[in-house]
Amino acid sequence: MEKTRLDVFLDQLKALAIAEEPVDQVHSLLQQLLSNNLAVAKEIFKPLDDDVTLYEDETLCVLHYRMPPGVVVPPHDHRIPAIIGVYEGVEENHFFEVINGRLVRQEIKQVTTGNVLSISPESIHSVQTGNDQPSAAIHVYLGELTKTQRFRYDWKTGLAIPLGNFDDIREEPLGDKQ
Ligand SMILES: [Fe+2]
Repeated sequence: MEKTRLDVFLDQLKALAIAEEPVDQVHSLLQQLLSNNLAVAKEIFKPLDDDVTLYEDETLCVLHYRMPPGVVVPPHDHRIPAIIGVYEGVEENHFFEVINGRLVRQEIKQVTTGNVLSISPESIHSVQTGNDQPSAAIHVYLGELTKTQRFRYDWKTGLAIPLGNFDDIREEPLGDKQ
């Protein structure tokens, strides 16, 4: 059977995940696709379900993630590198550090349509849309995300709470957390 464009994209990611400098390589691939071929990217990704795992093995996990406005994915880490490519809307990442028993926001990074953000394994972030429109992105993780022991963090105390599985991070109402 002939490969779809999504299959070809995933094949490229599989090859880069085991190449040298995989973060830079995956970042470049996403950046090229989104800045030079945004219309193609939309054709490939827009039909996908809102929150779906497209591929996972020991070296790579690829998610399609469409986020509505008004919710937030609470602070968490990945413990493996992550590369985020946004093809619609704006995905806003808030980065935190735990300082003296408080979760302290350090930085906000907006990933606008056509742009890519790499996130280091130890980074703690929360995610929301950057405006009142949904955002849609490809999230690439360099490792087996669902089998990686990672943590979410209490909004106030920064207490690290082990995540049992992927479903442990759910979107919450944004409320006063922005
Ligand atoms: Fe994340």
